[in-house]
Amino acid sequence: MDTRRKFDVIAVGELNVDLILNGIHGFPEIGKEILANEMTLTLGSSTAIFAANTAALGAKVAFLGKTGNDLFGQFVKEALHEKKVDTSLLITSEVSKTGATVVMNYNEDRANVTHMGAMATLSIADIKPEVLAQARHIHFSSCFLQPGIKDSLGEFFAMAKENGCTTSLDSQWDPEERWDLDLPKILPYVDIFMPNLQELLLLTNTSTIQQALEVLRPMANTIIIKDGSRGAVLAQSDGVIKRKKAFLNINVKDAIGAGDSFNAGFISRFIQAEPLEKCVEFGNLMGAVNTTSAGGTGAFRSKDHIIQIASDHFGVKIRI
Ligand SMILES: Nc1ncnc2c1ncn2[C@@H]1O[C@H](COP(=O)(O)OP(=O)(O)OP(=O)(O)O)[C@@H](O)[C@H]1O
Ligand SMILES: [Mg+2]
Repeated sequence: MDTRRKFDVIAVGELNVDLILNGIHGFPEIGKEILANEMTLTLGSSTAIFAANTAALGAKVAFLGKTGNDLFGQFVKEALHEKKVDTSLLITSEVSKTGATVVMNYNEDRANVTHMGAMATLSIADIKPEVLAQARHIHFSSCFLQPGIKDSLGEFFAMAKENGCTTSLDSQWDPEERWDLDLPKILPYVDIFMPNLQELLLLTNTSTIQQALEVLRPMANTIIIKDGSRGAVLAQSDGVIKRKKAFLNINVKDAIGAGDSFNAGFISRFIQAEPLEKCVEFGNLMGAVNTTSAGGTGAFRSKDHIIQIASDHFGVKIRI
């Protein structure tokens, strides 16, 4: 591994807290007050799950994102620090507040209200080439939650490539469902494009993987399509397409963060120059490991814990 750079990976993405309410007495109504029996404040962002789990898999990871100068900002920083993610690249806004999502849980379903706050104001002017040059790999995630930089992503990834980094992008879901991402400008600079299947089809306005790959072929390099319990598809730049099956978990706790854990597994192997197929297999395994515990980071407590889950639940011996 090239150790001349300070970080293996810089994760660039959204940062917010989740205020989760459980055991709510009915549904909220204008003009009334209702009670919730339980409340949890936790680090929310999906890019943070990726950063934490990539660090848990042994990589040196820094987070580049924006919070406010407030208590939630402090909370986010401490939570990342606890997960061994370097926080020296975090930017503090003096104007906007740290993003927050109020999650109202109703059994299997939930109602969320999000204030994007500072994460919406991260812009290309905040990104310095000398900062990107500190990492071997740059991973960008959740572009639709970061409207301040979404339309400059071509420039962002070009800067990363000019500074000798490998790159990856997970678009994630568009809460406004407009799916307006300038793919021809962005994808030529993205080594690994890693949406889930639904996101891929919506971004390309197609209805099959085949059609989507035809649209992307002229502009994209490697594409990984995450497909839940069906595993993942690897589409190489030479046109070869391979499907890799998921590791079946018959007792799924929840799939929160499975995609981010897949990304963590994939990227942690990719930066060790493992063949792409091996990276996908390890991504599938880490996605499956994720589903054995509640939340996105529960299963990623330590290297030993991850090794144990892989062996006990999926019969796979791994080295980290
Ligand atoms: N039920 C499951 N059993 C085993 N593996 C799973 C299961 N669900 C997901 N995975 C693994 O996790 C990977 C990512 O899951 P998924 O396709 O749900 O990503 P995603 O939709 O991007 O998730 P996220 O909501 O975290 O962004 C899958 O490709 C698969 O390898
Ligand atoms: Mg996802």
